[in-house]
Amino acid sequence: MPAENPPRTFHVKSFGCQMNVYDGERMAELLAAQGMTATDERDGADLVVLNTCHIREKATEKVYSDIGRLRRADGSTPLIAVAGCVAQAEGEEIMARAPSVKVVVGPQAYHRLPEMVADAAAGKRGTETDMPAEAKFAALPKRRRSGPSAFLTVQEGCDKFCTYCVVPYTRGAEISRPFADLVEEAKLLVAGGAREITLLGQNVNAWTGQDAKGRAIGLDGLIRVLAAEPDLARIRYTTSHPNDMSDGLIAAHGEIDKLMPFLHLPVQAGNDRVLKAMNRSHTVESYLKILDRVRAARPDIALSGDFIVGFPGETEAEFQDTLDLVGAVRHAQAFSFKYSPRPGTPAATMDDQIAPAVMDERLKRLQAALARDATAFNQASVGRRCQVLVERRGRLAGQWLGKSPWLQSVHFTGDVAIGDLVTVDLVQAGPNSLAGQLVA
Ligand code: 5AD
Ligand code: SF4
Repeated sequence: MPAENPPRTFHVKSFGCQMNVYDGERMAELLAAQGMTATDERDGADLVVLNTCHIREKATEKVYSDIGRLRRADGSTPLIAVAGCVAQAEGEEIMARAPSVKVVVGPQAYHRLPEMVADAAAGKRGTETDMPAEAKFAALPKRRRSGPSAFLTVQEGCDKFCTYCVVPYTRGAEISRPFADLVEEAKLLVAGGAREITLLGQNVNAWTGQDAKGRAIGLDGLIRVLAAEPDLARIRYTTSHPNDMSDGLIAAHGEIDKLMPFLHLPVQAGNDRVLKAMNRSHTVESYLKILDRVRAARPDIALSGDFIVGFPGETEAEFQDTLDLVGAVRHAQAFSFKYSPRPGTPAATMDDQIAPAVMDERLKRLQAALARDATAFNQASVGRRCQVLVERRGRLAGQWLGKSPWLQSVHFTGDVAIGDLVTVDLVQAGPNSLAGQLVA
């Protein structure tokens, strides 16, 4: 693309976790601040940013096929930037293999996207995978507008080194963003329309900082301060590690009304030998004890988690332990994955990798159990009266979609607007959503 023809429109496509969604929003804000216009149709965009995820299999192949799909009928391509964790892990290879990619930028360096795009438009390809996360946040434009439910990244990176996971390598060491910056960003999000903020981090409950008086605080302290924002109605946080579930955070669930009764606390497996091989540093017993304490603080809490089936060496009996744990916890919802060997992680070279057919079969059984529990949780909610935050219109005329305090999708009809918090009776349940009746 010649220098006199810089991109005017852009499309950001984010894959993977909510932190990538947040990063995608911030990249879009950066590009918009340069005078570029966002477009929903990537076919027509001058610049396409693929904000990639590296957590599970075929991530890199998927990026190459996405790049291939961006070729237009006349053989030309938009200016392509690859961002996110695949960029961090495999940037050099992407640059070598895909000439249509002009920019590779890692998750801690995307504040440099505008200048890299400008360089690329002038014919200079560039890769940036440095990891000074704090520099990134300081260089981003201030938040302006927000939907009713906003993400706010408070913590990045991971020091836990679970043996299957690439995150410590792609996102780097744990860092906590400074308290004052977070309060400022939260206030801007609320001023821009947010009624709910979800605090994000790979290990969000490892967040630490100093409050306005210089006192050391943890995530519960931050939540307490944000809860004092009058126009902010709801606070959530994700994802947490069992080892960082502090007494204060558990207590906060019983003390702060605005903290929603929902906890995503991945356990990964239900067998102590497997957990040890995963380097999870918690046991089944210590995990269940945490849940007991959280439930004591907030009896209606909805529990969510992540599971991996087919970790190297996992026996049928060990997998059965995972099913038993699921049966004991009764999650409101959960995510489950087949183990995927990630290059450079210790588990990838462990003996006894599990055959794909065995993993398929285990995943099927686990998902059936989790679906049973999710449906049961939703059914048990029928008859409850609760607040729903209206997020968007539904598919049917006059229908609205929003979230219950327990993060269930609720659809209902009535005279409401996006961003309203309305009272709804939950009247009917399915596996993934509930029907509600607006209380006049
Ligand atoms: N294989 C399968 N699942 C994985 N996860 C992380 N790494 C892997 C892997 N190599 C899952 C974990 C984690 C979630 C975000 O993704 O369950 O909690
Ligand atoms: Fe990955 Fe484990 Fe860190 Fe979660 S805690 S990001 S699974 S290394």
